[in-house]
Amino acid sequence: MTTWWQQATVYQIYPRSFNDSNGDGIGDIPGIIQKLDYLKTLGIDIIWLSPVYNSPNDDNGYDIRDYYQIHSDFGTMADFDQLLEEVHRRGMKLVMDLVVNHTSDEHPWFEERPDFYIWRDQPNNWGSIFGGSAWEYDDSRGQYYLHLFSKKQPDLNWENPELRQAIYDMMHWWLQKGVDGFRMDVINFISKHPDLPDGENGDGSPYFMNGPRIHEFLREMHDNVLQHYDCVTVGEMPGTSPEDAQIYTNPDNHEVNMIFTFEHMDLDHAPDDKFNYQPLNLIDLKDNLEKWQHALHNKGWNSLYWNNHDQPRIVSRFGDDQTYRYESATMLATCLHMMQGTPYVYQGEEIGMTNVSFSSIDDYRDIETLNMYDEKRTVGIDEATVLDQIHHVSRDNARTPMQWSDDENAGFTTGTPWLAVNPNYQTINVKHDQNSEQSIYSYYQQLIAMRKQYDIVTNGDFTLLERDHPQLFAYTRNNGHENWTVYCNFSSDTITLTEIPNGEIMIHNYDDGILSNSQLRPYETIVLRNMKEVE
Ligand code: NOJ
Repeated sequence: MTTWWQQATVYQIYPRSFNDSNGDGIGDIPGIIQKLDYLKTLGIDIIWLSPVYNSPNDDNGYDIRDYYQIHSDFGTMADFDQLLEEVHRRGMKLVMDLVVNHTSDEHPWFEERPDFYIWRDQPNNWGSIFGGSAWEYDDSRGQYYLHLFSKKQPDLNWENPELRQAIYDMMHWWLQKGVDGFRMDVINFISKHPDLPDGENGDGSPYFMNGPRIHEFLREMHDNVLQHYDCVTVGEMPGTSPEDAQIYTNPDNHEVNMIFTFEHMDLDHAPDDKFNYQPLNLIDLKDNLEKWQHALHNKGWNSLYWNNHDQPRIVSRFGDDQTYRYESATMLATCLHMMQGTPYVYQGEEIGMTNVSFSSIDDYRDIETLNMYDEKRTVGIDEATVLDQIHHVSRDNARTPMQWSDDENAGFTTGTPWLAVNPNYQTINVKHDQNSEQSIYSYYQQLIAMRKQYDIVTNGDFTLLERDHPQLFAYTRNNGHENWTVYCNFSSDTITLTEIPNGEIMIHNYDDGILSNSQLRPYETIVLRNMKEVE
């Protein structure tokens, strides 16, 4: 049976960068309300809101000081209630970010409930994901606390049942308010190996990813909270294999509905340094996505994404953001949205927003980027090399303000934006895109509508074609009644296939039909439908 979230398309809002209604340079909740019709018209079913809770913003809201309050940068709880009502009035749903692997060190628990955190007399050798040691000495306690992210993000102690109950109470509170689910931040980190052993070269991940009690904790969360609501959950889970995902997302296991894998996002950089980027080998990407498609078919559920607030922009990463921006943005969208799973669109993806190349480190804001810059410069790597890596990989690529128009600051704010707007906003913006003959937004609209209209997009099986072709990603979807073939040219070359079969064209990013000689032009994509003969 298909559930509502299996047929849905999700849109992620990074509130700080979406739309500023009061001119303080920071996006806010009233600003989001102003744009709900834009999302409804796109065809969006679910909005995922990155954190809007009270936070000192060491990691832009992923460091929560109070789970029950809205950050004043974003507005008030009354604004939030209005947002929820307006989202529901339009027939959409709202999913909150649930950040419960850690809090801010400014959360009152950090003072009042030391038993809610992880303390040791001696640190182990784990490194933090944002650089440096994962341990910080606390003078008043005379002990070290664990922080897998910044030192202002102490990890919570999920071994403590009272902590778990406090989290479940908070989740009930939001669900009773009417929110429709949670995107769970690094949720597969919450169970740590009790001994916290040293890791190889300081890598503690084998001892904190998918740890010994993770399934037990997720089931408990489900029994205690989630089963009481018609809600959707997606767990952000770095370091998770398709086999792990089968356990996490099998409906009989009562854990989460789907997870975000990182495997396909880890193919274009060195294993130990995400900033050390490398060209993508398309064959690796195909192998990987095929593996996930097969592993979860009828066994669990996939989420489908190219972009979020932590990833560089896909059109710059796997496409061509210059000559073939329209073609490659629409090709990438087709490739993703025609697979089985729930697709996620990240703000700006629907107009083909690109990476940014600020010339000075002073223009960057992201803690991960700033820490990495300091570390690499300290060991003597030259400025140009480090900046080049930042231009390709920094999370700020995704976080520059949404480009609404060619007005000053892209129509995002009348004030000074907290992070500079990408200078290309004069040509890449919503207004321009929507008035263009080649509108990426309209193309996304069509893809999203196809998912609603044709059951095969949700339920068909997946077969990879042309496995060894270095430039072509092609696959079929099949549901017993019909068969769809999806062709995606991942290159700026024209490629020649043995044959492109006949079929009804469901979507195509060149408007003059298929070439008669079975060629696919640069970044061309096409979906063909064939009905099965009734026997
Ligand atoms: C994953 C979030 O997506 C990222 O933005 C954040 O920095 C870390 N988790 C820590 O919360």
